[in-house]
Order: sequence, then structure tokens, then C-alpha cells
Amino acid sequence: MAKEKIVVEGGTPLAGEVHISGAKNSALKLIAAALLGQGESAIHNVPLISDIVVMSKVIETLGGSVRRDGHTLHVDTAGVDTWETPYELVSKMRASISVLGPLVARFGKARVAMPGGCNLGARKIDMHMVGMEALGVHFHTDHGYIEASTPNGLHGAYVALDFPSVGATENAILAACGAEGVTVITNAAREPEIADLQDFLCACGAEVRGAGGSVITVEGRRPLHGCVHRVIPDRIVTATYLCAAAAAGGDITLRNTEHRQLAAVTTALRQAGCRVDCGADYIRLTRTEPLRAVPPVQTTPYPGFPTDCQAIFMAALLQSRGTTVFVENIFQSRYRHVPELIRMGADIRTEGRVAVVCGVERLHGAEVVATDLRGGAALVTAGLAAEGITTVQGVGHIHRGYEELPAHLRALGAHITEEN
Ligand code: EPZ
Repeated sequence: MAKEKIVVEGGTPLAGEVHISGAKNSALKLIAAALLGQGESAIHNVPLISDIVVMSKVIETLGGSVRRDGHTLHVDTAGVDTWETPYELVSKMRASISVLGPLVARFGKARVAMPGGCNLGARKIDMHMVGMEALGVHFHTDHGYIEASTPNGLHGAYVALDFPSVGATENAILAACGAEGVTVITNAAREPEIADLQDFLCACGAEVRGAGGSVITVEGRRPLHGCVHRVIPDRIVTATYLCAAAAAGGDITLRNTEHRQLAAVTTALRQAGCRVDCGADYIRLTRTEPLRAVPPVQTTPYPGFPTDCQAIFMAALLQSRGTTVFVENIFQSRYRHVPELIRMGADIRTEGRVAVVCGVERLHGAEVVATDLRGGAALVTAGLAAEGITTVQGVGHIHRGYEELPAHLRALGAHITEEN
């Protein structure tokens, strides 16, 4: 049974190594993508986190089976015989919406609860729908559900996204796998998780090209089967440990990671005064001197500075020398960690999309509440650098995306426990 609070006593530099888990935001979509191929897929390097449990339940609700063996998930979708995903699951995890494309591709129809807003703002799905409409999907909303149908079948099309949305790009690729002919998606998201989805689909027999760039081509209607695939490392988890060591000081090495996917973050950490050395599958961060402020941090789609790293990097800079400006360009409301950080003595002012962080001499431990996944990780990060004890409530948010965060930090020397 997961504990309810994380308790951190700050002030100890971190030292040692962490093996980075597989990427949550890739694994979730690969599980959904397994719906396309009628057979079993073995997905390795899947993180043990609660969002994966929810996505597994989604597959089981649809009639498939999911078996976990350590970090390998065996997903068998041969028995899937329904196309409806209930609100109970979608409300727990917005990423459930990524079954829409595969269900439409497989059955020509789907009924999926509308995700609604979330802690990061309104989070519409209009671009998901526009992309699939181009392929011939008709949408109808009814009592909080999106009902998708394809009265004239699915056909390849030119899909021009208004913004490189990660989820809309993925749903367009997945639906296009079931469409007759060729689909070209322009202004596609370029995140590494999209390239991982392409690799998975190609291993299942699909013909998808271009992921990692802005134009993705899908040749639909190829017979798909199960496959064996290894999920890419989680770049945001990697960044979290880097920021934790930047905040607390010390010398850590992260293994099973891919530094090229984190260039925007490692550049900012170097600007702040950290030493960052990278090799084929590791990143080492050393911080011995106080940090300094950095040029404005603007979150943008990949390969820019990731919105998912905004809160954790902000937490690292709370005691830096000088003033850093953050501009959150991706989500409407992603500063909910700020009032909690202020309770720890941080000097942060926010105005719309902008947050101005003035470094303070000292942070002090406090009782704080996590309101979202990365914001929660930011509170733990700040706690590592604060004097005294920080108690973080709402850790269910943290368990959604981090496997054993307190245990890994403890192994690095942090004084951190979980309590009820
Ligand atoms: C993915 O969310 C990630 N989630 C997010 O990670 C990440 O922050 C985000 O991409 C950006 O990198 C998963 O992969 C499960 P978007 P997604 O569609 O796909 C707006 C984390 O902490 N938009 O690229 O939902 C949307 O409201 C999480 O792990 C529309 O307006 O992100 C947002 O402002 C949180 N209409 C922006 O675009 C649409 O139809 C980017 O969203 C779709 C999106």
C-alpha cells in the first residue's frame, strides 16, 4: 500500500548512481497502440507506476489481457471485443484518450469518455478530432462521451496540425494505421516518444516514417501483429534527478539514459553552474558551487525546453544568485507548485504565463501539497535543498509517473522517507 506523505530533511548533497526507468509517456501510448495488432506484444522497460496500471485496466476493460513480469508487460489484444472506454478510467488518466485512434483503426468506431479539464488547465482535444476527421472519422458527443464512427471507411489524408500536439500526433498516426492509402501528417510533434511509437508500430508490421521530424507518413491497412519492444528511457525522470542534484549539490550519475534528448535542460543546468558530462548511456552532474540565475527559460515543443521540466528546474533555482524568468508556453495553468514553494521561503511572482524567480539565501522546510505530477517532484526537489523538514502531501500524483522516487533519492544519500 502506497504511503500518503513524503518527508524530506534537506541539506545533504547527493552522491551515487540511479538507473533510469522507461518513459511513462512512451509506454502508455505503446500499450494503447498494441490494440492495433491482434496478438501479444512484449513491452520491456515499462516503469512500475500507477498510470501504467490505469492504462492496463483500459486494455482489460476492452477485452484484452495485460500480464506484468517485472518491467515487462505482455499485452494481448486478440480478445478485444468492445470499443468503449468508461469515464471512470479516463477521469483517472487523461492519456486514456490515446485508445481513440487504435479503436477507430481496428473497429471503425469508438466510444471514449471526454477527458475534461485537468490540473494543468482546460486541455482540449480538438486537434485530436480534427486530425482523425481528415481520415474520415465522424464525431458526435453524447452525455460526456465522444462517439466516433466511419460511415465511409477510413482513408489516408493530408493532416495539417495547427500546433505540434503530442497526443493529437499520436492519435493521427494510430488511426492512419487503419486507413486505406497514405496519410501525411504535417506540423507533427517531434518528441522522442513519437519516434518510439513509430519504432513499435514498425516492429508490429506498420509502415510509418518521419517521426522525430515534422512530417510523418503512414501507409495504412498493413496487417499488424504483436512485437517485442524496449521503451526508451524517461527523459523527464532523468531531468528530475539532475535537478535534484543541482538543488541539493553533490555528484550523481544517471545510467540508461539518452542525453541527446535532454540538451535544452543540460544546457540550462550548465548555465546555472553545474558541471554536466555525458556519455553513450549516462549523464553525470556535479554541483559544488552555489547556482546562478540563467537566461529566460521558455517552454516549447521538443527539442525546446520541456514543459514537464519547468517546475523541477524552477525548484533547483530557488537559491540561485540572481533572477530567472520562466515563460510557460505549453499549458494554460502550470504554476500550481508556486504557492507551495513560496511557503518554503521561495521568492516567486507569477503573472499569466510568466514566473519570476529571485534566488533567496535560504529555503525552509514546510508542509506542502502536490497538485500534479511534476509539481510534486518539484516540491521534493526543493525539500532536498531546504533547511529542516518538508512534508509533501498528495504523493499519489508523484506515484503516477515516478518509480520509487524516495527510495532512489535515499540511495543517493538523501534523508527521505514515506509515511502515512
Ligand atoms: C503530453 O501531453 C504529455 N502526456 C505531457 O506530459 C506533456 O506535458 C505534453 O505532452 C507536452 O510535452 C503524455 O504523453 C501522456 P499536447 P498531451 O497535446 O499529449 C493543447 C507529464 O507530466 N491542445 O502536446 O496532452 C493542450 O491543452 C505530462 O508527464 C489543444 O488545445 O500534450 C496543451 O496546452 C503532463 N487541443 C498543448 O496543446 C488538442 O487537441 C500541448 O498539448 C490537443 C492539445
